Amino acid sequence: MERDQLIDLTRRALKLARDKTTDLAPAERRVDAQAYTSAERHDQDRAMVMASPQLVGYASELPGPGAYCTKTVMGRSILLTRTADGSVKAFNNVCLHRQSQVATGCGSAKRFTCPYHAWTYDNTGRLVGVPGREGFPSAAIASAAKPGAAGRRQSSAAIASAAKPGAAGRRQSSAAIKADGLTELPAAEFAGFLWIAMDPGTPLDVAAHLGPLADELDSWGIGRWSPLGEKVLDCPINWKLAVDTFSENYHFATVHQQTFATIARSNCTVFDAFGPHHRLIFPLNTILGLDEVPEEQWDPFQNMVVIYALFPNIVLSVTIANGELFRIYPGDRPGRSSTVHQNSTPLDLSDESVAAGAQAVFEYAHATVRDEDYRLVEGLQTNLESGARDHLLFGRNEPGLQHRHNAWAQALARDWPSIGRQHRH
Ligand code: FES
Ligand SMILES: [Fe+2]
Repeated sequence: MERDQLIDLTRRALKLARDKTTDLAPAERRVDAQAYTSAERHDQDRAMVMASPQLVGYASELPGPGAYCTKTVMGRSILLTRTADGSVKAFNNVCLHRQSQVATGCGSAKRFTCPYHAWTYDNTGRLVGVPGREGFPSAAIASAAKPGAAGRRQSSAAIASAAKPGAAGRRQSSAAIKADGLTELPAAEFAGFLWIAMDPGTPLDVAAHLGPLADELDSWGIGRWSPLGEKVLDCPINWKLAVDTFSENYHFATVHQQTFATIARSNCTVFDAFGPHHRLIFPLNTILGLDEVPEEQWDPFQNMVVIYALFPNIVLSVTIANGELFRIYPGDRPGRSSTVHQNSTPLDLSDESVAAGAQAVFEYAHATVRDEDYRLVEGLQTNLESGARDHLLFGRNEPGLQHRHNAWAQALARDWPSIGRQHRH
């Protein structure tokens, strides 16, 4: 983010802190309790997430050609690779034989040998080896040609397909290779993050999805910082309750009295919407000290946390030392969700004590979400499901919360017919 913009945001945050107020929505808003409990809404939500571009990790999780990582997204196992030309590919991590996961964890490998019967795939997804070949006469195996030879075969196919323009051209690589392979999903590296589409037939246009936020997210560099791993929270809360906990800081003084509230203001937020996404600035207590400091000397990062909510299910939290990522997925029923929490750091992790310190910060942040936010909202889910009261109230001081629910409602109203068809077939 440009310094001018950071200074402007700091000015806005300082004014709110000084005036003991927060950015306000025009009015209060009610949301039906059923948004968190109904099976029909849950199906719609799952379809909405499945149909949206999915940010699944940091670009730095695939540091160079030959790197791979695996992700669980909406209960599906996904394999991501960085191929020889540096591009990112994604596949369903499902063996063509009997559906074992062909890879686990992350690391470096140009080939993936299924742990069950050793069918082998290269990092472009092609099936390159089947032990006991006579048992599978229908399996089409790519020749174990050297990359150079494969390249030549591809280009001769490209010449052949050039004679037949249109669909044949788009299918050139599969036509050339004629090998079976893992089901490929649209994938991209964009704004420093790894993105996929969950449906192989859905185009992935992350630039259009992020709009003006793309450059801003890229500018932080958090997707290129060192990744610190994943921690998973499978919880008895609707996925939207999980997102809601990141959408206001009105609760800091009570829920995080002993933790975040010792360093950050409560009920004091700079709010900006970017289409269906939003950005919140949470000022730290130190911000009031800037009153005594000339603007040229301000160091904005020392005085704020920046939170992004990316439609529909991603939250990013950026500080000077941490780029936290929360990937929040609807579970198998309205009252279940799964949150994958990641963190990245600009620090040099080759130093053991620095790495240990970074892990300790990650663990602290994770424990706070797990033991303070999510534990508390389990009780909300119970109350919502009890039917005792049919709505929730969002205040004017909770504009991020209002915007989240507006964006979801608008998307469902707009997209539901097509999402629904896609989902059901
Ligand atoms: S399930 Fe993968 S080789 Fe059998
Ligand atoms: Fe919280």
